[in-house]
Amino acid sequence: MSGLTRVALLFVGVLCCFLSLPGVTRATAPEFFIVGEVYCEVCRINFINKLSEPMPGGKGEIGMQRRGSGNITYTQEGETNESGQYRLKVEGDHADEECGITLVKSSRADCDEIPDEGWASKPSSLITITKNNGFHGSTRYANPLGFTKKKANPDCAELLKELEINPDHP
Ligand SMILES: *[C@@H]1O[C@H](CO)[C@@H](O)[C@H](O)[C@H]1NC(C)=O
Ligand SMILES: *[C@@H]1O[C@H](CO)[C@@H](O)[C@H](O)[C@H]1NC(C)=O
Repeated sequence: MSGLTRVALLFVGVLCCFLSLPGVTRATAPEFFIVGEVYCEVCRINFINKLSEPMPGGKGEIGMQRRGSGNITYTQEGETNESGQYRLKVEGDHADEECGITLVKSSRADCDEIPDEGWASKPSSLITITKNNGFHGSTRYANPLGFTKKKANPDCAELLKELEINPDHP
């Protein structure tokens, strides 16, 4: 089945649910909630650290593709709340797809770079959306992601020393 056919079937499935008569029991597709955080990474070292600041109003997107095909089958955008956390609802089992969270839009002009390396490379945070792998709960936790600040905070120097990172020779 092609990715498109799957999406079409999904929509038909959803439509049927809405059209079903009230009182008629219907089989419900599994529902998943993807929870994660978006930060502003203020030290330009491309991993979340103790100085990273939660970013309210940041936008991220979940994307899925058929394993190895590169064809995107599903995307959905979400926005972070005051605590910099998002919660995305995804319907159906996606055992055959690779699902990843990517950063879309920053809410801070001084912190809007999307690093293209390390943890932030695309797809940035892979998650498994299926109940066929032993995880039976409906909540999936994605790794935290961060936009990078244009200019590192002054107090980063101390953190870098602590972490033994030399910014000139990464
Ligand atoms: C990806 O999508 C294109 C266009 O819909 C289709 O022709 C192609 O067969 C798809 N590839 C795979 C591996 O599903
Ligand atoms: C933000 O969203 C997370 C995940 O849904 C939730 O646990 C948290 O309570 C929310 N915080 C606020 C301040 O709304």
